[in-house]
Amino acid sequence: MAVGDSRRGALGRGGLLALVAAVLAWACPAGALENGLARTPPMGWLHWERFLCQTDCSQDPRRCISEKLFMQMADLMVSEGWRDVGYQYLCIDDCWMAPSRDEKGRLQPDPKRFPSGIAKLADYIHSKGLKLGIYADVGNKTCAGFPGSYGYYELDAQTFASWGVDLLKFDGCYCDTVDLLAEGYKTMSRALNKTGRSIVYSCEWPLYQKLMQKPNYTEIKQFCNYWRNFADIYDAWNSIRNVLDWTTLHQDNLTDVAGPGGWNDPDMLVIGNFGLSWDQQVTQMALWAMMAAPLLMSNDLRHISSASKALLQNKEVIAINQDPLGKQGYQITKDNNFELWERPLSGGAYAIAIVNRQEIGGPQTYKFSLTFLGNGLACNPACSIQQILPTSRNLGLHNWVSFLKVLVNPTGTVLLKSVVIEEKRVVGGTHALGIS
Ligand SMILES: *[C@@H]1O[C@H](CO)[C@@H](O)[C@H](O)[C@H]1NC(C)=O
Ligand SMILES: *[C@@H]1O[C@H](CO)[C@@H](O)[C@H](O)[C@H]1NC(C)=O
Ligand SMILES: *[C@@H]1O[C@H](CO)[C@@H](O)[C@H](O)[C@H]1NC(C)=O
Ligand SMILES: *[C@@H]1O[C@H](CO)[C@@H](O)[C@H](O)[C@H]1NC(C)=O
Repeated sequence: MAVGDSRRGALGRGGLLALVAAVLAWACPAGALENGLARTPPMGWLHWERFLCQTDCSQDPRRCISEKLFMQMADLMVSEGWRDVGYQYLCIDDCWMAPSRDEKGRLQPDPKRFPSGIAKLADYIHSKGLKLGIYADVGNKTCAGFPGSYGYYELDAQTFASWGVDLLKFDGCYCDTVDLLAEGYKTMSRALNKTGRSIVYSCEWPLYQKLMQKPNYTEIKQFCNYWRNFADIYDAWNSIRNVLDWTTLHQDNLTDVAGPGGWNDPDMLVIGNFGLSWDQQVTQMALWAMMAAPLLMSNDLRHISSASKALLQNKEVIAINQDPLGKQGYQITKDNNFELWERPLSGGAYAIAIVNRQEIGGPQTYKFSLTFLGNGLACNPACSIQQILPTSRNLGLHNWVSFLKVLVNPTGTVLLKSVVIEEKRVVGGTHALGIS
């Protein structure tokens, strides 16, 4: 680098290293939690939205929160190809604990539902090439009323590490003040680091903090690998819509902080459940890819349609979500009922999403100019465009001044990827698309 070259003689080795460190610090002002994890958004499965807090296994043996449920999901994650497309973290949410700590003050799993213990479950999950996530709470109780970690941060971090846990979702219920909240999230982050085990750290810090004061995302990113900003997701279009609207409203403050090591978390994928139409499932998958969101499914892998499975396992969409550049996408315009989003990808490529927010009528046509995508760079002088959702197809070459026309179903999304090309051997004018 030019700076290093010109000063090497004067500074010597130590000085050069210090200069490099200073340049790096300057280049990455929003330093991430340096645990080497979550370089791309974590992918996996989390029980909450689909399985909630069923603790009565005699009444509902197939759906209660038990080691059996997680072992079955682990088996399916391997046999049904989920692991091989990237879904790696199998995560327990609230309601795994016994109602009290053991005689040494340690958290313990409910003995009836997790008779083998969490360490054995972790071994099983690791033997499948997967990783285990667990759940705890920064306050005096978990949201469902099980023991909280307040006063036990170090001990709980050590307990999780000794069990072989790979990810911690740390909730924010029963915490009285913003200062205790911030102190708790930071202390747990340091405690996890001290264990020496690599543990992805998922925070709900901004979600609870914003009830009382504006979150400082620069600070949050220094302690957490990803963080929830908004209320729990439901298996309903209304819920997806609210997450998207909130994210868009705050995108100027959210987008820049995301990157390798730290991500905004719009909560679980509910694709494959009951509440979303096909087009709404497409919208969730496409927009979670645009937002560089963790992809944590909450569904029943024992009962999922082949269409939902194919959508969740779509490698081209996953590649956008996992793009190594790690830049979060954003909405660039909204006109009438259409939202146009873009996400810069590595190699000068762009992901483009067109969402039709109209909830009445049939498919609608949206026509947009390629000239302004990527601040004028995405298609300059030309680009090739691939449609990825709702179906995969090649849309050919386009020049800088082209318009593109897409037909989008109500509450659905068309997801595209553009790759800039240097030649001008391309079609001009408007390219018409249909859905298929
Ligand atoms: C937990 O409860 C104690 C006793 O009521 C209280 O002093 C403390 O502030 C609480 N902790 C948090 C994190 O709210
Ligand atoms: C702990 O933090 C240090 C310094 O930030 C980092 O180098 C190290 O990899 C971390 N260790 C773990 C286990 O996260
Ligand atoms: C946010 O946190 C960062 C890092 O701790 C700090 O430098 C900055 O001053 C904080 N910003 C505000 C507005 O408090
Ligand atoms: C974004 O952050 C700035 C600085 O903290 C704040 O003044 C502004 O209100 C925030 N905007 C939104 C939409 O949250």
